[in-house]
Amino acid sequence: MTQPTVLPAWQALDDHRLEIADSHMRDWFAQDSDRFQHFSLKVAGILFDYSKNRVTDKTMGLLSQLAEQSGLRGRIEAMFNGDKINHTEDRAVLHVALRNRSDRPIWVDGQDVMPQVRQVLDKMRQFTDLIRSRKWLGYSGQAITDVVNIGIGGSDLGPRMVTRALTPYHKDDLRIHYVANVDEADLIETLKGLNQETTLFLVASKTFTTQETMANARSARDWLLAGVGGEERAIARHFVAISTNRHAVQAFGIDPDNMFEFWDWVGGRYSLWSAVGLSIALAVGMDGFEELLHGAFEVDEHFRTTPFSRNVPVIMGLLGIWYTNFLGAMSHAILPYHQYLRHFPEHLQQLDMESNGKSVDLDGCRVGYQTGPVIWGQPGTNGQHSFFQLLHQGTHLVPCDFLASVQSHHQLGEHHQILLANCLAQAEALMRGRTMDEAREELADLDLPEERLALLAASKTFPGNRPSNMFLFERLTPKILGSLIALYEHKVFVQGAIWNINSFDQMGVELGKQLARSILPELEGAEVGQHDASTRALIEFCRDWERCSAGKTT
Ligand code: F6P
Repeated sequence: MTQPTVLPAWQALDDHRLEIADSHMRDWFAQDSDRFQHFSLKVAGILFDYSKNRVTDKTMGLLSQLAEQSGLRGRIEAMFNGDKINHTEDRAVLHVALRNRSDRPIWVDGQDVMPQVRQVLDKMRQFTDLIRSRKWLGYSGQAITDVVNIGIGGSDLGPRMVTRALTPYHKDDLRIHYVANVDEADLIETLKGLNQETTLFLVASKTFTTQETMANARSARDWLLAGVGGEERAIARHFVAISTNRHAVQAFGIDPDNMFEFWDWVGGRYSLWSAVGLSIALAVGMDGFEELLHGAFEVDEHFRTTPFSRNVPVIMGLLGIWYTNFLGAMSHAILPYHQYLRHFPEHLQQLDMESNGKSVDLDGCRVGYQTGPVIWGQPGTNGQHSFFQLLHQGTHLVPCDFLASVQSHHQLGEHHQILLANCLAQAEALMRGRTMDEAREELADLDLPEERLALLAASKTFPGNRPSNMFLFERLTPKILGSLIALYEHKVFVQGAIWNINSFDQMGVELGKQLARSILPELEGAEVGQHDASTRALIEFCRDWERCSAGKTT
């Protein structure tokens, strides 16, 4: 496997960085009236404008060479062929099979997985139709009005984000809720006002062993039983499981007929396309869910077949490499100018940071270069009134992604035009900035003494040259949303391939989980074991406090 830093294109990019260090994007726009045409593409109904990036033709050429020299092409083929590219867990990575809308078979261990995928989709359709047509009745004969998805990480973030993003497509008489946190406040607040007789729980967990999900599922089961006179038979009408672990589902007491299966080749953060998306299908109907799959499939085909120079996820990934490894960026902001996309940054946080937050390469050696950036963001325009100050005038370079729909789902006065105007203005301001002369000119009418004028003009100067991508689409439909998510999934793939890391395991979440398992009994009174002095004192502090508040003497 190749360390990217030794590749000729990496070395050339390092030199090229110095070549353009003093260039400003506003000059490039002034010199080249075709810059937008040159650096924008359309895919699956999405306009991707990347002209406001610190790149020239030469930069993009070198970045494409880097992708070629890194063996990206072979890595893409290996994923679509079902090779076990998640080599630490010895697993294929085939979320693309879940949205394969073609007749092409996809093989894992000599078996075509597509028949099983279609079978689960059929089962999801039958189930969602029953619930949505009010034919599936709860234990006391009433139709389901509320669905509570219990899951965490990929078994929560993806479905939650999509369900909220597609709110305009929901069926009015079916409410979808999400419970993730083991903090009991999450479950308690969600169940307030719900009726046991009309509530359905979806327990979504790939492993069906996740501590938080299992604790929430047990408490939800107790809540249900308390409302139906302890009648265990009610569980079959009110609990459904989505998992790869049939044995654990049965042990929990959920009827295997109420289990929706998926497979170990679906990573948690890529699982919304599987039966983990059942809450989405219940919200928007199975046709809507399949539209979402279709949107992702269009992007998969684009990613698989388009030359790198016109391949949107490849370009997204390469731009990120440029900023992270050559221009010193440490984070990347996701800024949807779309209230329904408010959970999009959170979903991308798990997708990107759990995938590429790694410091060991495919050979198990420590990497000598930066890998995945910190992903963060908020919907516009809210962020403009908090952290945008830093984006415009701070000392950090933060590449930004703006996302917006040209049409709204609603029509309320000028709201949507105001939203769009702000979105386009922020990207322009980041790129263009404001020079000292321009700042002075704006202040000219105030007739200020020179000292004050100089101070104010310096404060009102914006360096500009701050990069952003713009994603514009007509309206946020299920299909467009599917495409957007797939673009980011493949971007993460591209970067992982170039950084020569495994984007598909998540060993970094294990140590904390392990320690929590040993601290739990200690908090509950067991002898405190081997810990550092700080952790030990904190455990004892919690124990003392609990004893005191329980009215016992210490
Ligand atoms: O803790 C990390 C993680 O394993 C994620 O990768 C996963 O999405 C989440 O936990 C939930 O896991 P599960 O679906 O097995 O409950």
